[in-house]
Amino acid sequence: MLPAATALLAGACAFDRAAVVAEEKLFGPGPSGTVQALGAWLGDELAGVAAVAANRIRVLGVMPSRRGRGVGTALLTACEAAAKASGQVTLRTLDQPGNYLAPGVDERNTETITWLEKRGWVKTGEPRTNVLIDVRGNPRVTAHRVEALSRAVGEHGYEIRRARPDETALLDAVAAEFGGAWPFELSRALAHSPTGVHVALKDGAYCAFAAHDGNNAGLGWFGPTGTWPSHRGQGLGEVLLVACLVDVAEVHAQCEVAWIGPRPFYDKVAGVVSDRRFLLLTKTL
Ligand SMILES: CC(C)(COP(=O)(O)OP(=O)(O)OC[C@H]1O[C@@H](n2cnc3c(N)ncnc32)[C@H](O)[C@@H]1OP(=O)(O)O)[C@@H](O)C(=O)NCCC(=O)NCCS
Repeated sequence: MLPAATALLAGACAFDRAAVVAEEKLFGPGPSGTVQALGAWLGDELAGVAAVAANRIRVLGVMPSRRGRGVGTALLTACEAAAKASGQVTLRTLDQPGNYLAPGVDERNTETITWLEKRGWVKTGEPRTNVLIDVRGNPRVTAHRVEALSRAVGEHGYEIRRARPDETALLDAVAAEFGGAWPFELSRALAHSPTGVHVALKDGAYCAFAAHDGNNAGLGWFGPTGTWPSHRGQGLGEVLLVACLVDVAEVHAQCEVAWIGPRPFYDKVAGVVSDRRFLLLTKTL
């Protein structure tokens, strides 16, 4: 099913590069629970796909030439039924921590938003933002700058380095300090060669980390990142972000920073060229 589903998602999802991460979204693990991938066939042709994991729809798309004949509604109803059968009371669009195509539905995707609203889904909470950073030809994104910033924090006793593939102590430390889905995303980023994780240590203790390609592997997305509270304000987040952006530049012209916290931080460190905004929609089952 994967090649057909990948081709379908390439045509169906105009706002997200869902085809690149088709396997991860349809079949990949999340931090908890399992994913159920659903297909809708017209004859022997795959016309639509969806994936539902716990209380999130990870992806849902119908081949453009097969729209308007109930395929999407059938998939949506099946996702809702699967979530309800597994004990969920609400279902949400896309934003599964640890394995999300996007932090919601792209706000430009008005057709899909209206379509969901007609089916009892409601916009919930504030929009989420991703920011885009040019990583090629950006004078703030260079290996030389990583070295200079590493030297500067080194004067205060910090060591900056790429994490090793077997660095499970980092996952334990992040789980203890931050929890949530971050250790899961980091474990996925550690599995790349070279690892997509950079760390800051002082006296052998972790002080900060940053990762890319932990979620949406292959898209060059940045995140998660975190600095232990007592080490904030020392430039660790900056050097680790730039180290990740230099990695991403090997493959991509831009880096997408997902579901951002402080936008001014990214603008100051590397320059934000544009924003994407996403709406969370939910349905009570
Ligand atoms: C949104 C989307 C899934 C809808 O798929 P679809 O197969 O066209 O959905 P449906 O056919 O069930 O519904 C579309 C319309 O066709 C109508 N329709 C339903 N059954 C029908 C039938 N048997 N004959 C004719 N029309 C029908 C519906 O009434 C609906 O109109 P409405 O929304 O005004 O009520 C599809 O447009 C899509 O793939 N969009 C992009 C995917 C995307 O961006 N996903 C978000 C990121 S994962």
